[in-house]
Amino acid sequence: MTSTQTVDASAVTRALKNATTTASHAPSIHNTQPWRWRAHGDQLDLLLDESRTLAVADPDRRLAILSCGAALHHALISLAADGLHATVARLPEPTRPGHLATIRVDARMPVDPAAIRHLQTVGLRHTDRRTVSGTAVDADSLRSIAAAAESQQTQLHVLRPLQVLGLASATDHAQHVEADDPAWQAELDDWTGGTRPLGTGIPGTVIPREASPTMVPGRDFGRAGGMAIADTHDRAAVFAILYGPGDGVLDWLRAGEALSAGWLKATELGVCVVPMSSAIEVTVTRESVRHLLAGLGHPYLVLRFGVLDSDTAGPPRTPRLPTVQIVEQP
Ligand SMILES: Cc1cc2nc3c(=O)[nH]c(=O)nc-3n(C[C@H](O)[C@H](O)[C@H](O)COP(=O)(O)O)c2cc1C
Repeated sequence: MTSTQTVDASAVTRALKNATTTASHAPSIHNTQPWRWRAHGDQLDLLLDESRTLAVADPDRRLAILSCGAALHHALISLAADGLHATVARLPEPTRPGHLATIRVDARMPVDPAAIRHLQTVGLRHTDRRTVSGTAVDADSLRSIAAAAESQQTQLHVLRPLQVLGLASATDHAQHVEADDPAWQAELDDWTGGTRPLGTGIPGTVIPREASPTMVPGRDFGRAGGMAIADTHDRAAVFAILYGPGDGVLDWLRAGEALSAGWLKATELGVCVVPMSSAIEVTVTRESVRHLLAGLGHPYLVLRFGVLDSDTAGPPRTPRLPTVQIVEQP
């Protein structure tokens, strides 16, 4: 590694810009993209943008911060692929919890081939809500995905068949609670369906046309989308829970970094991932999911893994906000 002085300032500026562009591809709850970046010198601050959070479904900002963690991981991949070493201070200002991280570029380093591969995968990763095929997800792939998540200090627990029944019941209950709450539905309507010309939210084109027979119900968007799905049962789907010892802002941020690391690894292995957060959003069902972990820790997000039928085309990409809208310049 060489010292900071040898990193050309304009190269750093360019790399930080690349990092924010790469981060914009990160997954987020309802595609809210609840992050904002502030670039200054060799530093990039990651801030929670309250204007793109879900007051009803996510009052603690758990899922928004998790989404920001995924964006942070994407940004770090970009810097590593540009051959730059960066240090990260998570929650650098204890009195300002919305300041989630500061990334500081401090040296040049050899370009990491794994980072180049992950950077390419960022462009391929997306949420595909189609029914999974009958092909099983192999145990080695699951172990590699879990190891990728665990490299970010968050664990992944793969559910056994009986536990999947418990998850199915919790998710079903959560979706009923949400469907019965007009404020919840109004917020869901604000963020999902339609054409989404502003670059936020989930367009109808990636929402299933109808519910397919599944063990654990997929997100009830409250309206039909335009995406055709197979009407076969998703028997080969595997369900897992991202979890950890605490239930605070730092844990959620790290969980988002783990989500990104695990999802990119899964994409590289041909495994499809769908996050399922309904049961986490409702307090009582989050507690039921915690019981499935039998004292191991607090649940952050449920994930569905599966293999998709490669003969049919996947859904279109979900749009993103233009980068200028998420980066504050000094
Ligand atoms: C914290 C979190 C929770 C999510 N929850 C769900 C969910 O319950 N159901 C679902 O279909 N997608 C869920 N998603 C996927 C997002 O809708 C998706 O990432 C976003 O629309 C952007 O699309 P993309 O992943 O294709 O880039 C979630 C994503 C995150 C990061």
